[in-house]
Amino acid sequence: MNIELKLNCKDYPTNIIVMGVFQKDAPQKDKKSKKEEKKEVSTTGWSKEVKDAFHESHCSHSFTGEIDTTDSFEAQGKKFILIGLGQKKSFNSEGQRKAGSKIQKTIRDFKDNICLDVDSITKGSMDKSIHSLLEGYLLSMYDFDKYKSQKNPSKVKKLYLTSKTKATTSKKLQKVIEESQAICESVNVARDFVNEPPNVLNSEYYAKEVEKDAKKIKGVKVKVLGKADLKKEKMGMFLSVNAGSAYQPQLVHLTYTPSKVTSKTKHIALVGKGLTFDTGGYSLKPSASMINMKFDMAGSATVYGAFRAAALLGLPIKVSCFLGMTDNAVNSLATMPDSIVKARNGKTVEILNTDAEGRLVLGDVLSYASDFKPDAMIDAATLTGACLVALGTEVCGLMSNDQKLADKLSKAAKNTDEYIWQLPIIDEWRNDMKSNIADLKNIGSTRFAGTAKAAAFLENFVSEGISWAHLDIAGIGDSQSHLPYCPAKGASGMMVRTLVDFIKSYS
Ligand code: BES
Ligand code: MN
Ligand code: ZN
Repeated sequence: MNIELKLNCKDYPTNIIVMGVFQKDAPQKDKKSKKEEKKEVSTTGWSKEVKDAFHESHCSHSFTGEIDTTDSFEAQGKKFILIGLGQKKSFNSEGQRKAGSKIQKTIRDFKDNICLDVDSITKGSMDKSIHSLLEGYLLSMYDFDKYKSQKNPSKVKKLYLTSKTKATTSKKLQKVIEESQAICESVNVARDFVNEPPNVLNSEYYAKEVEKDAKKIKGVKVKVLGKADLKKEKMGMFLSVNAGSAYQPQLVHLTYTPSKVTSKTKHIALVGKGLTFDTGGYSLKPSASMINMKFDMAGSATVYGAFRAAALLGLPIKVSCFLGMTDNAVNSLATMPDSIVKARNGKTVEILNTDAEGRLVLGDVLSYASDFKPDAMIDAATLTGACLVALGTEVCGLMSNDQKLADKLSKAAKNTDEYIWQLPIIDEWRNDMKSNIADLKNIGSTRFAGTAKAAAFLENFVSEGISWAHLDIAGIGDSQSHLPYCPAKGASGMMVRTLVDFIKSYS
């Protein structure tokens, strides 16, 4: 999307102008008069010409500025499109994001250059307002139309962000625009990977595509480990999940090193579950539950999206990213329930359910990532159906061995208006993951607390002394239909923004 900042702007450079409109604060109720107060819009900050034109137009009678409503009027040969923002006192960054998406949907069919009057939508700092607004705009442009014969992309040529603000702040705001674009592009890259069907995106293809994309970014190095490498690494758990696959397991190891590194430079490791399809293996999923299991690699796409954005922003922090890729398929070589395998860190695991495969892949990858001694290690995974029972499809599960790290992630989620909630890991659940005949088993004895028991299992593969947090994105990985800037169906890209915010404030 071509976006240009125009500060110190007296005349709009285009014939179509988008303005945000607040409702006037409700006046104190006059107890004597029983008449309903006429709802009015606030025109504070509007130029006299626009104000007059508005009052002469039909809009002044019908448009109330209510959230999610639009209207338009013409004046002096220009078209003014009004976007209702509700009352200013309850307007916030999420409101800005939603307004951004409403604007995008309202103007997408105009084959023109369009002005967006930023002053009319700003509340609080202008850079934060522009950031949220652009997030809503750019994230809602996304459409997975690769396989559609009829495509319907936005026709807008160029979006001018206009403001009366002095041009002295231009550099800072220009940076905000570039950052928002890098973050949204990365969310959309993650969405594209998740939406790709499993007959196209198998582990080998996925690894190649990530490598191709990552190689273009400054400061990024890529290494891909295949089956022989995983054997050398003694990743018995990861290999057991891949046993029935037609494709090689792939461990994609990405590193981003900032241009300046000192002894104080921090290092974050991101780990992602990349199950390109989860049939359940011999513990086969019923047909209805198997649909959409192409999205079982969403954890890896999420951490890759965050890694990619951090590198594009040139953040002053080292970030490593480890993506464990395979499918969970069935053939005569596939792992049978009751098998006992040995993990990379030497622990033995009794596999009682081949559908609890994500933890097997992640366990070995967490052990591998631990060797690089990061200051913090965060994994993301569509790990448990139980997470949907506990937190619904709107809230991300968070578990950690370090409360400070968990708090930082919760704060980052708050900053970006993404929902996250921490679940505990208690000794009783740790004990429940112990096996009678091996060190561990891969499922708990009951289905209760399934999400946190999975985390209790993973904890065994995080090396001593490493701060680690686990994000269960099984619920939020797709179909966030309550958010206008997410597709109603398909990959959501949620948690990329939280992780970017986290990495940013960690550096
Ligand atoms: N990928 C699934 C988790 C999942 C299920 C995500 C439904 C989204 C929707 C995972 O590999 C899995 O199958 N987990 C099992 C674990 C169980 C066997 C302990 C589950 O949740 O049923
Ligand atoms: Mn599974
Ligand atoms: Zn799975």
